[in-house]
Amino acid sequence: MEKYYITTAIYYVNSTPHIGSVSEAISADIIARYKRLSGYDVFFSTGTDEHSQKIETRAKEEGISPQEFVNKASSVWKSIFDKLNISYNRFIRTSDQDHIKVVQDFFNKLYEKGDIYLGTYEGWYCVRDETFLKDSDLIEGNCPHCGGEVQRISEDNYFFRLSKYNEVLLNFYENNKEFIKPETRYNELLNVIKSGLQDISVTRKSFKFGIPVPFDSDHTIYVWFDALINYVTSVGYLHDAEKFNKFWPADLHIIGKDITRFHGIIWPAMLMSYGMELPRKIFAHGFWNLEGAKMSKSLGNVIDPVQFAENFASLAGIDFDVSVDVLRYYLSREVNFGLDGDFRAETFFNRFNSDLANDYGNLINRTITMLYKYREGVVPKEIIKNEEMISFIEKKIEEYFNTMNEYQLSFALEKVWEIIAFLNNYIQVTSPWNLTKESEKLDSILYQLLEGIRIVSLLLKPFMPKTVDIILNKLQEETLNFSNLNWGALKHNIKIEKIPPIFPRIEREKMIEKKQEELEENIISYNEFAKVELRVARVLSAERIKDSEKLIKLSVSLGKENRTIVAGIGKNYSPEELINKKIIIVVNLEPKKLMGIASQGMLLAASAGEKLTLITVDKDIEEGSRIS
Ligand code: MSP
Repeated sequence: MEKYYITTAIYYVNSTPHIGSVSEAISADIIARYKRLSGYDVFFSTGTDEHSQKIETRAKEEGISPQEFVNKASSVWKSIFDKLNISYNRFIRTSDQDHIKVVQDFFNKLYEKGDIYLGTYEGWYCVRDETFLKDSDLIEGNCPHCGGEVQRISEDNYFFRLSKYNEVLLNFYENNKEFIKPETRYNELLNVIKSGLQDISVTRKSFKFGIPVPFDSDHTIYVWFDALINYVTSVGYLHDAEKFNKFWPADLHIIGKDITRFHGIIWPAMLMSYGMELPRKIFAHGFWNLEGAKMSKSLGNVIDPVQFAENFASLAGIDFDVSVDVLRYYLSREVNFGLDGDFRAETFFNRFNSDLANDYGNLINRTITMLYKYREGVVPKEIIKNEEMISFIEKKIEEYFNTMNEYQLSFALEKVWEIIAFLNNYIQVTSPWNLTKESEKLDSILYQLLEGIRIVSLLLKPFMPKTVDIILNKLQEETLNFSNLNWGALKHNIKIEKIPPIFPRIEREKMIEKKQEELEENIISYNEFAKVELRVARVLSAERIKDSEKLIKLSVSLGKENRTIVAGIGKNYSPEELINKKIIIVVNLEPKKLMGIASQGMLLAASAGEKLTLITVDKDIEEGSRIS
């Protein structure tokens, strides 16, 4: 059996999964399932990227160890992937013991080879993206990728001799024009290589939560060097030779367009240096926006995909698993894989109503209703063949395979919908209700419709695995794989159980009502607002909290009393500039412990991305004054 090894990027655990990040895992899952159904022995790897400076800081702020933090956060990702039916063979974590061993082995070998050497790094670092940046990379002093704040660092680092691989990478690219897909990404990377590669830092000195350099424990291995190696650990490198020899090299790395340089340049160079085969292909997909805006936690517009599927299930009156499949369908149909997409409630409802309820759902409902009405639910024999129909469907199946092999998921779905449209039209044209006296004709048409539904459902299995299984089970399809796509495999003379409507159409009014409810959920009454007690406070003293970049401990006066407040404003304010500022605080909030210090209130600030500014008073007023 031919093998197929597919991976996703591994996900940073400092944020929770959102529609954008899970869309990558869903697309990879669709391809993995497609390959399994096509008879490949598939290994599908995904997981979490856990070592980083951010995690160290976040864990300290929460008063727990970094390991405890990542254990909790990684299990959130895993459970969400399970609910979305991501059929991974391994969920790798970069804190897994076998991975740590493999990373150290890589580091040692590259060092022994002279490809890693000690130097000094002088430049910028973006903590959010975990990237080293040069002066010329910055845009208005910020990270060119995420727009966030950068830190100036000057530290002894180990460097990887990337420049040594410039020529050989260029040759490789010129001889492997299909290495990166889509082509635009290939061209981008080719230009980067042509413009000349410089050595890169592969260690950090100022934080500890990571894998130590095996022979120099003052240094922690750079998170990207560590993370990329997950792809070989996952298939057993150094731990399961048989598995590794079978599955490596990876057949497909699926990643987002933001991380192509790491995968298309640094990773191949690391493998060349180590002496390991390169992955066969990298596919870089686009980004999902939400209702036209970038998805970001700081903009408050990230959607939890499981919550979304739960809400949609209750609105549409469908099972959670079917709702997950609707989400999987929407994400793969709405945009051509590779391009950017815009997740919109309106288009989501429309896809559900038109593609699933009207086209696919109705085809099934009408066919099963007629089967019961005319043949008591028993599949008749196809006596008169329709060669035109068979060759049309065969052609569409072939096109489906061609597009799937190019990862053009939405085009593959279009092919399936062409078959669905053909079958719906066939009902109209043949009008089986007028053929009750032409038994052979009616038998044949009913068989053809059922057989069409079976084939369409098999083709949809990678996309909507749980839903089509309901249909295929009713049709008593046994193999449940692509070996059974040949026309005529549906058995006749078997009784089909009734299939309840799987995608009930949602009325437009209900959709509008739902939108209104969502708006209303965000509205609070005057009395609710009046419960929040806001007062003016004057800052008496301020100091940074040790080991935290963000937190500042403030002592503030409310006139009659003083309070201690811990606030995450350290990236935007120095303690000195806060003294005597009149700020606004919420005084009746329950106290919360941050880094072991009880914060007795919360100050108000406005923020946009990395920007943050404190709310103060326009004219002077006594401290303790109430805001209303
Ligand atoms: N940890 C690194 C990857 C290391 S791989 C050896 C990382 N993590 S991430 O959590 O920031 O992103 C993980 C993947 O999710 C990336 O491929 C990224 O492109 C993808 N996406 C993040 N936001 C996305 C959207 N809004 N839309 C589509 N994909 C998105 O980078």
